[in-house]
Amino acid sequence: MEMRATAVACSNIALTKYWGKADFRDNVPLNDSVSMCLSEAITTTTVVWDDTLSQDEIHLDGERILDQRGVRISRYLDRIRADYYRMPARVVSMNSFPAGTGIASSASGFAALAAAAFAAMDEEMPDDEALSRWARRGSGSACRSIHGGFVEWVAGTGDEDSVARPLAGPDHWDLRDLVVLVSRAPKAISSSDGHRIASTHPFMPARQAQLPARGLAVKGAIANRDFSTLGALIEQEALEMHALMISGVPAALYFQPGTIALLHAIREWREADGVPVAFTLDAGPNVHVLCEGEHAPEVLRRIEALAPGVTVLENRPGPPVRRTDHHLI
Ligand code: PMV
Repeated sequence: MEMRATAVACSNIALTKYWGKADFRDNVPLNDSVSMCLSEAITTTTVVWDDTLSQDEIHLDGERILDQRGVRISRYLDRIRADYYRMPARVVSMNSFPAGTGIASSASGFAALAAAAFAAMDEEMPDDEALSRWARRGSGSACRSIHGGFVEWVAGTGDEDSVARPLAGPDHWDLRDLVVLVSRAPKAISSSDGHRIASTHPFMPARQAQLPARGLAVKGAIANRDFSTLGALIEQEALEMHALMISGVPAALYFQPGTIALLHAIREWREADGVPVAFTLDAGPNVHVLCEGEHAPEVLRRIEALAPGVTVLENRPGPPVRRTDHHLI
C-alpha cells in the first residue's frame, strides 16, 4: 500500500515574536505572536506512507538526511503514527531558498510536512485549526504558515488551544519584506536553545507585561495599513528580543557588523531622507527590511548601494499552505 501527497508552504516573519516557551514538548509559547507569510521563501514536501519501507527515508534539498534533522522529522512522524497509521514514510522536501541562509525553513518545512502527511492518508483532512496545531508540534512558528497573509498565533493555555488564526489575507496590504542575507555563517546558538535561555531570563516578566498592548497595536496597524505605526512597533519588538538574546546566559549575539550597518542605514533613510522603511530581525544576522510596494524599488536601490552584490529576497504576503499534484517523487 502506498499513499502519497504533496504540499507547499511559505515561511513567515514574526512582527511580534515567539521567543520563550511555556511547554517545550508541544511548543506552546509564552505569548501570542503576529506574522506575515513570505511569498518567496517556500518549502515543497511530498510524503509517501509506504508499508514496504523498514524505516523512514528523508531527503532535503536533494540529499538523503541521516543526521539530527532526520531524527527530528522521524520523531515528529512518530507522533502522527501514534494516532493514525503505523507505516514508515518517504519524505522528500525542497526549499526555494538556499539552505543555510538563515531563513527559517522550519516554519515552511513543518507546515508543508504536516499538510502533506495528512493529505497522504486515507482520512478526512484536518481543518486549518487542527493542521495549525500539528504544524506547531513540529516547530512553533510553523503553525502560522498554515494561513496566508497576516496571521496571529494565539498562545492559548496548552496543546489544545494554542493555534494560529488568519488576521488578513495576502491581498489586504502590499507590504514587502526584503530579506537581506547579511551573513551565511551557521548560528552559534540554535533557536531551541534560545527559547530555553529566554524562558527563564530575568527580563522576561517585564517583556510579558507589555506584549499584550504591543500585540493589539500591531494588529491595529495591520488592519489600518498604517506603516509608520507598524514600523515603530516592529523595530522596538525586534530589538527587545535581541536585548534578551544578548543578555542571556549563554549570550546569543546574532548581530554581525553588516547587521548593525544596515539597521543604522534604515533609520537614517527614514529619519533623514523620509523613506518609509523599517526593519525586523529573526534569530540570526539577516535583516528583514519592510516597506510598502511603492517604495520597494527605492529601498532596494539603497540596499544595493550600501552593500553591493548582497543577496536580497523580495517577499510579498504569501498564500496559505496548499496541495499540489506536482509530486517530488
Ligand atoms: O519556531 P522556532 O522554534 O524556529 O522559533 C522561531 C523564533 C523566531 O523566529 C525568532 C520568532 C518567531 O516568532 O518566529
